Amino acid sequence: MGGGGIRVPGDKSITHRALMLAALSSGRCRLGGALAAGDTRATASVLRALGVTVGPLGADRAIRITGGGLRPFRAPHVTLDCRNSGTTARLLLGLLAGHAFEASLTGDRSLRRRPMARIAEPLRRMGAEITASDGDRLPARIRGGALKPLVWDSPVASAQVKTALFFAGLTGGVRVTVTEPFHSRDHAERLLRLLGVHVDVDGTATRVDPPESIAPFDGDIPGDYSSAAYLLAAGLLRRSGEVVVEGVGINPTRTGFARVIERMGARIEVQGRWMSLGEPGATLVARPARLRSTEVRADEVPALVDEVPLLACLAARAEGTSVFHGVGELRVKESDRLALVAKNLAAAGVDAVAEADTLRVTGTDRPLRGLVETAGDHRLAMAFAVLGTAPGGELELDDAGCVAISYPGFFQDLVRALTDA
Ligand code: S3P
Repeated sequence: MGGGGIRVPGDKSITHRALMLAALSSGRCRLGGALAAGDTRATASVLRALGVTVGPLGADRAIRITGGGLRPFRAPHVTLDCRNSGTTARLLLGLLAGHAFEASLTGDRSLRRRPMARIAEPLRRMGAEITASDGDRLPARIRGGALKPLVWDSPVASAQVKTALFFAGLTGGVRVTVTEPFHSRDHAERLLRLLGVHVDVDGTATRVDPPESIAPFDGDIPGDYSSAAYLLAAGLLRRSGEVVVEGVGINPTRTGFARVIERMGARIEVQGRWMSLGEPGATLVARPARLRSTEVRADEVPALVDEVPLLACLAARAEGTSVFHGVGELRVKESDRLALVAKNLAAAGVDAVAEADTLRVTGTDRPLRGLVETAGDHRLAMAFAVLGTAPGGELELDDAGCVAISYPGFFQDLVRALTDA
């Protein structure tokens, strides 16, 4: 996977999926490069609470999981705590749907305000019994069992919804077809195909047929593009030099950031491509650029959904007014990211407004100063930390520790990105 640059931690989405599919395999699996951070520790710990043998998750060693077949869980003695991780909670509901016992799920304050009906409704349609707080939130209880096949037209383009329903199909032994308004990230589909599961894609409809079993597997998880994006953005804001990030997954359903950056007058150079676990990867290079404003269309959002705060911060240093259309989903992420991006930019002296599902940011080259309210949201903390590196910037984060949700070594890597080459 190349050499010389900064190596970001493993992809969060792929780590969750690989851990869960390893649990459903029929034997011993080994995963190199898995993300060892708050969210993926939540997945490892709920799998353990459900009786799966999951080894320690550490930054420098492979994790070992012993799968127990397509319905590997035993009834838990504790409430399953998904902590801050929406992907853990939603994908887990899917996995539990095919298991004939009752389980309770909860999460931290942030996760308890996030919508679960988008998963619960189709899972009920399949035959699972689910009761959620206010009909839509954690804590929730699920009793799974015999499931019916599902054809579902999801009103949101969400990889979490799509993946949860495919996982329900695996544990329930039934076919699942999901149509979404726009393509969301396809990591589950790639991994399932690699494991020999039949996956059929027709436009934005994806069908997964239940396999007889999943063979144990072994592989290396690529670095997380969303984590790399912060360092690359810091490279764009630098006065000179370059930032090289190696070992990064470049699945096109994730790389909308680079496409938008190109319209803003910059470029992320791609070097030395490779494949791992069915995913393309490469070394990425960013150099200083003069940025101009752009418009991001609603159909582009799924491929950059986690990079909107970062792109908004870059738009704050671009010439002109940038508009992000169809970004309403950001209101139900780890925080109301849309409101907080606008509020924090405005507090630092940038003209930024969030209205309904649109965000407008007018760039400035004035030095930006102020205290950033992160609401404990890792992506807000990292986006504003990068913006704070722009010339004359003095942005302070109210909670820097929250970066450990997805990128524990972020600040060390950011310093390297600002000082190397
Ligand atoms: C994820 C999908 C996205 C993304 C989240 C991780 C996943 O959420 O924002 O960080 O791993 O499936 P949605 O599917 O809700 O858009």
